[in-house]
Amino acid sequence: MLDRIRELGTEARAALEGAATPAELEDARVRYLGRKSELNQVSRGLKDLEPDKRREVGRAVNEIKKELNALLESAKERIEAAEAGADTLDLTLPGRTPWVGRKHPLTRTLERLTSIFRGLGFEVALGPHVEDDFHNFDALNIPADHPARDGWDTFYIDGDTLLRTHTSPVQIRVMQSQTPPIRIIAPGRVYRNETPDASHGSEFFQLEGLYVDRGVTFGELKGVLTRFMRELYGENVNLRFRAGFFPFTEPSTEVDVECRICHGSGCSVCSGTGWVELLGAGMVDPRVFEAVGIDPDVYTGYAFGLGVDRICMMMTGTDDIRLFLENDLRFLRQI
Ligand code: DAH
Repeated sequence: MLDRIRELGTEARAALEGAATPAELEDARVRYLGRKSELNQVSRGLKDLEPDKRREVGRAVNEIKKELNALLESAKERIEAAEAGADTLDLTLPGRTPWVGRKHPLTRTLERLTSIFRGLGFEVALGPHVEDDFHNFDALNIPADHPARDGWDTFYIDGDTLLRTHTSPVQIRVMQSQTPPIRIIAPGRVYRNETPDASHGSEFFQLEGLYVDRGVTFGELKGVLTRFMRELYGENVNLRFRAGFFPFTEPSTEVDVECRICHGSGCSVCSGTGWVELLGAGMVDPRVFEAVGIDPDVYTGYAFGLGVDRICMMMTGTDDIRLFLENDLRFLRQI
């Protein structure tokens, strides 16, 4: 009987150690350690043996069961680990770099522009996105029923409440609440009731500037804008000041920069002209001063408004403005 127990031990060891799947291991467990296993039958028959024999065989059976149970446990761990792929761990593989979040390109552009203007002495002012007719239009010399309003396709909320169509109303709010000298920039989101395409969004960003004091001249406006463009694009940037029209400035100008994508030879971003319009500017119209209670005989000032998305498009080589608001990580991660 002792020989048979030893034999069973050898077989069982081989079966447990050789099992490669949970099913094979379970077969081996049932066969050698289960209720109907031969070893268990021997245990149950012990009571019929002579006392001496019983002790001897009993000890042998217990020892072998103990050993096999330990083997069963380690086989279980081995198979589980193999299934989890731990056996195929390749320690020479390079680590996976986690994606690190970063600021949106528009945020980075706004921060860059703001920091340049801060360096030129401007302070940041903010205003509400939900505006009224007075601040968005009337005070800027764009009266109701005047065709100039067609220049700003407006989302009306009700009656005279609207989503601001430009950052210019912040000029009005600042001039109403401060006395000159005033030197502010107002970066922020604006809204237009337009069908979006590659170069127009129904929301986009502007950065407004306003300087009011005694004796402010157009020459200073030109100087500040040129300084700004050189900070942004380098000392030998090519600029073009064109005569323009805005109801709230007189005289007015539009400023173009030589296209950074094609360097003037013509491409889709500059519609083949070689130039991209970046901002509107001019001397604050006396009627605007009157609307906010500043004496136009004492003070003069300049204002400008620039398109942040256009600048961001040229800095990042992006040819569709809509990409900035879609938040598609496949796009954002390329920048
Ligand atoms: N508010 C104008 C727009 O949205 C941009 C602009 C032009 C702002 C001339 C100004 C300015 O302050 O002087 O089209």
